Amino acid sequence: MTMQGDAYLKCIDPQCGLEYPIESTNVQCDKGHLLDVKYKKTPSTNLKDVFSNRRNPQGSIFNESGVWRFRELLNFCQIDTENIDECSKYLVSLDGAEGRQSKPYQMSKAAEFVGISSNNLWLQPEGYNPSGSFKDNGMSTAVTHAKMIGAKKIVCASTGNTSASAGMFAANEGINCDVYIPAGQIAPGKLSQAYQFGAQIIEVDGNFDDALKQSLEDAQNHEGYTVNSINPFRIEGQKTIPFRALEYLNWESPDWIVYPGGALGNTSSCGKALMELYEWGWIKKIPRIAVINSEGASTLSDLYNGKFEGEELRWNKGKPNTDLITKYYDHLDKEGIRPKTKATAIQIGRPANILKGLRALEFTNGVATTVSDSEMLDGMSVVGLNGFDCEMASGASVVGIKKLMDEEIIKKDDTVVGILTGRQKDAMLPVDYHKNPENKFAIPPKS
Ligand code: F0G
Repeated sequence: MTMQGDAYLKCIDPQCGLEYPIESTNVQCDKGHLLDVKYKKTPSTNLKDVFSNRRNPQGSIFNESGVWRFRELLNFCQIDTENIDECSKYLVSLDGAEGRQSKPYQMSKAAEFVGISSNNLWLQPEGYNPSGSFKDNGMSTAVTHAKMIGAKKIVCASTGNTSASAGMFAANEGINCDVYIPAGQIAPGKLSQAYQFGAQIIEVDGNFDDALKQSLEDAQNHEGYTVNSINPFRIEGQKTIPFRALEYLNWESPDWIVYPGGALGNTSSCGKALMELYEWGWIKKIPRIAVINSEGASTLSDLYNGKFEGEELRWNKGKPNTDLITKYYDHLDKEGIRPKTKATAIQIGRPANILKGLRALEFTNGVATTVSDSEMLDGMSVVGLNGFDCEMASGASVVGIKKLMDEEIIKKDDTVVGILTGRQKDAMLPVDYHKNPENKFAIPPKS
């Protein structure tokens, strides 16, 4: 039994508002704006109990999955979500592993480092996904849509984790996968995953922004299905990251949810999740989103905080000053400024989801800031000392919280959820960090 027409695509620009059927593969409206998946029905808050009961999966991989456990809140396939046979026909899952092991944890050493009570800090390791990053949340849903429309090939550009995730799901589903990577600029552990899963690597002489441009063009010309986060179905799956956090907090909103910022897919999906939950009456309080850029790739933070031409860029109720963004990119090009950070995952100069990101920050009264490479390494390392693994870009969440606490933007008794986006795939980074006794958390080797 399908619910015809409950889900559709809609342009995010309120002045434009073009709509498309759910089978559309456009990642933009005809005027070039980003799209949202929209649902006509309001999901009942009784589903909170259903989701909780599914944590005893009773033999269903769609209950085991930390993504599909919440399937009523992302039912763009418009299927009967209780019918497991129907779920198996439509929903793409790596045997229920996506999102299964990620939930918020308390980490006392990280809490001490950032200066907050251990009870108030929750860190959610999304690296404990089957391909080792948060991407699996959104890839399972994007590939579900690819399968729904009969795509034979998925395509992405990547700083590494997207390609690993896309390659994994493509291999599991028996479809082809092309990945465009900035040559020499991705962590070896991520590159090897893409090869291992049989993806076709296309090396681009440039950075991630160049790779994305080329992959979008090639996808269009060669009938590839794009699975980067500008694909609105990626965003649907990534909503489950805040869903899981909120569920573990009994749907009591924290004061803050903190993410590293790259292409701003996470920021966008968290914003959309919170907008929907609030509109549906599932949460009463709106957590504030904090986005942490690297100092070397700080587009959002620069524009949001008025560091370029003195204007603080805002969503402005759907009328953002997009000329300012264009001018900023022209300025980067003219000055030859390229994004530069050792946290290659977030070495991104042109965040493709910037407008959705701004909308998320406006809805949540959010903030954006930057941290340095050495701070991110400290953040990564203190997570390790709690027995959890994360990569350098994820360290941004931890030190970002510390910075915002030091600036008294996050208050001492606020409750904070920080997302640790990926596990360590750059094996020598911790080795080099610990070998240098100058580093804050270093435990140098003895001989
Ligand atoms: N953290 C990690 C570990 C990432 O891999 C990424 C993005 C981000 C944070 C930034 O997230 O784009 O949602 O703001 N990695 C992409 C990739 C770009 O290709 O793997 P965002």
